[in-house]
Amino acid sequence: MSTAPDIISRKKDFPGLVTVSGDEWHYLDTAATAQKPQEVIDAVANALGRDYATVHRGVYSRSAEMTLAYEAARRKVAGFVGGKEEEIVFTRGATEAINLVAATWGAANLAQGDRILLSVLEHHSNIVPWQLIAERTGAQIDVCPLTEDGRIDLDAAEEMLDERHKLVAFAHVSNVLGSHIDARRAADLAHAVGAKILLDGCQAVPRLAVDVAALDCDFYAFSAHKLYGPTGIGALWARSEILDAMPPYQGGGSMIDRVTFERTTYAPPPQRFEAGTPAISEAIGFGAAVDYVSSIGLDAIERHENVLVGQLRDALRGMNDVSLFGPDDAAGIVSFALDGIHPHDLGTILDEANVAIRAGHHCAQPLMDHLGVPATARASFGIYSDADDVAALLSGIERTKRIFG
Ligand SMILES: Cc1ncc(COP(=O)(O)O)c(C=O)c1O
Repeated sequence: MSTAPDIISRKKDFPGLVTVSGDEWHYLDTAATAQKPQEVIDAVANALGRDYATVHRGVYSRSAEMTLAYEAARRKVAGFVGGKEEEIVFTRGATEAINLVAATWGAANLAQGDRILLSVLEHHSNIVPWQLIAERTGAQIDVCPLTEDGRIDLDAAEEMLDERHKLVAFAHVSNVLGSHIDARRAADLAHAVGAKILLDGCQAVPRLAVDVAALDCDFYAFSAHKLYGPTGIGALWARSEILDAMPPYQGGGSMIDRVTFERTTYAPPPQRFEAGTPAISEAIGFGAAVDYVSSIGLDAIERHENVLVGQLRDALRGMNDVSLFGPDDAAGIVSFALDGIHPHDLGTILDEANVAIRAGHHCAQPLMDHLGVPATARASFGIYSDADDVAALLSGIERTKRIFG
């Protein structure tokens, strides 16, 4: 396969892309979690070693320096999505960010008779927290359908929304189909009926330039590990005035202003939502990942992934025993199924050829029900993916088909 000019060659930055025996590993599971560049690995190692100390409390210089580094990471993450540093709450990941909004904003703002609009393609992380808070508050959940090609149908959303809706929570990019929405239109639709909008940006931030101000959303949730950063850290961006009015999430150290047994007052955001000693080295690794991605540029990353998605979709479309899901302009993610071959069997046989894909329901069981399949095979690309990975996948698919006759 020829290498298109838009392809970025960054494999050498990623020490994880070889097998234990030193062979090339065709890693096509970046939507689950991205491999880490050496820059991020070094940043985390230094934060845990040479530079390690606690943050926010120490009177000694190492702790003061660590606090500066931790808060610098927050500034980088905020700048990366077009927000202000006081609007970034560090969480364990997108899952915790969404749970935080549901448990605090949701508990304070939802009541019997209110409605929440989700969509068919949401990840369980953007379904179950809303079900939990709906059970507690008596709010009801509505589900927006998809278009033929697997996008959240915003025309249908417009028809469904009314003043009973207090929240719209949509994936910016689907983790199964790679489909993306016109997030600005979704925000305008939500605001037109007085609802807030939360965007699950987990699969968007690694592949599309995101500017929360331009999107005019209210909450934006994402995870560092899908953005070439460490696990155990992510971010909730929320508008200042909304965060200011939100009650605390968890109680403990760092989130307070003054504690007495009679009455406790709380720190302003973002500290109000970061109880306990934070994930210090992870936050610094998150900042390093943002630096790394920014040095390449999301426009270049988007073009790079579009080329690979196009190559793979064209090749799969040329096979007559393949169902291909999602739209042609999918962002970095291609889901498909081979007739008569379970995706798990395909994944296992591909593994023998050092090709790693994801096979399963991708934490999106309602979407699987909608597609009428128990599972799909999913290949997802990253900065390090190239035409060799696509070729290895295609030859593994042909081999699997031969094995299954
Ligand atoms: C669209 C989407 N939302 C939410 C999540 C949850 O992210 P995490 O497990 O990092 O909290 C994922 C992870 O697969 C995802 O793809």
